Amino acid sequence: MSTRICPQPGIMEIALYQSGSSSIAGRDDVVKLSSNENPFGAGDLARAAYARAGHDLHRYPSSDHASLRAALGDRFGLDAGRIICGAGSDEVISFLCQAYAGPGDEVLYSRHGFLMYRISALVAGATPVVAPERDRCTDVDALLAHATERTRLVFIANPNNPTGTMVSLPEITRLAKGLPAQALLVLDGAYAEYAEDYDGGAALVDTCENVVMTRTFSKLYGLGGLRVGWGYGPQHVIDVLNRVRGPFNLSNIQLAVAEAALGDAAHVARSLSENARWRDWLCNRLNELGVPTDQSHANFVLPRFHDAAQADACNAALLADGLIVRQVSSYGLPHCLRITVGDEAACRRVAHVISGFMEGQK
Ligand SMILES: Cc1ncc(COP(=O)(O)O)c(C=O)c1O
Repeated sequence: MSTRICPQPGIMEIALYQSGSSSIAGRDDVVKLSSNENPFGAGDLARAAYARAGHDLHRYPSSDHASLRAALGDRFGLDAGRIICGAGSDEVISFLCQAYAGPGDEVLYSRHGFLMYRISALVAGATPVVAPERDRCTDVDALLAHATERTRLVFIANPNNPTGTMVSLPEITRLAKGLPAQALLVLDGAYAEYAEDYDGGAALVDTCENVVMTRTFSKLYGLGGLRVGWGYGPQHVIDVLNRVRGPFNLSNIQLAVAEAALGDAAHVARSLSENARWRDWLCNRLNELGVPTDQSHANFVLPRFHDAAQADACNAALLADGLIVRQVSSYGLPHCLRITVGDEAACRRVAHVISGFMEGQK
């Protein structure tokens, strides 16, 4: 390595992100349950829009994303002028860190928060700060206790990945109101649609100058491979983020397909009802099998095994059956496995393998 050509401080502290694997050599009946993808894929309207979008490959895309923002505004009852779109909500998270946090600043999140908060903070040269959780749940008092005059951003995912747990709106409001004046609260709503009666914090954004919400098309809309996410915030924040955003950060294809997906009410309804049904079934079944699993509000569950060795052994049993789930030691949960809620057949297959595995542990 050259001793003169060095990256910015913090960059080499970033562990390379390991995404969920998708294949097992020699098997063609693999089910991937490691990245919280929609088991039904993209809807028909999105697929049709994808086929049509190929006609405009020579054209630059819209740089203000006006049509998609208007559709999002209509769908969720939001001010389209205060929406920003990115290549996945990951990109919106990184805009926030680039714009608001730098050397000497702190970016706060909770113990089992999404890995990109730490990565984006380090890329921006800021210092990641971790607050403890209570029973795998975001602890507002702990976050408030860890906020200092250097805190610029506070991230919470609600529901949280990888725990699937949630904090209530009154608690989030208490957090927003209790933070120091220079700190911006980011409510990451990647899984917001899966939680009942939850707007992702949109109403709070409308009443607080220090709250931003991020959302994605990657989960419920089945478009993880397309890379489209968005954020909603106070005008002063969106004006800042639009200065950081590249003018053509989303392609014609991304914009057209995301807008079509938003209008596919039948696909959304089916995805939501099947997820709720099989998520609750899987949680109950795992608890019956002696593997404690919190009630999840998202599209995955997090069974807790006796220890890391038992979780690793169960992972090996699942892999032997062609089921790829996520090991979560990088989140500080080596005794757990994160399992995406698949369709009925996948959930039954997971329960069957774990049942056999637990029998063998007796
Ligand atoms: C909590 C959370 N936030 C954000 C994201 C980023 O999703 P995307 O960049 O695909 O929108 C994910 C993806 O897994 C996530 O789990």
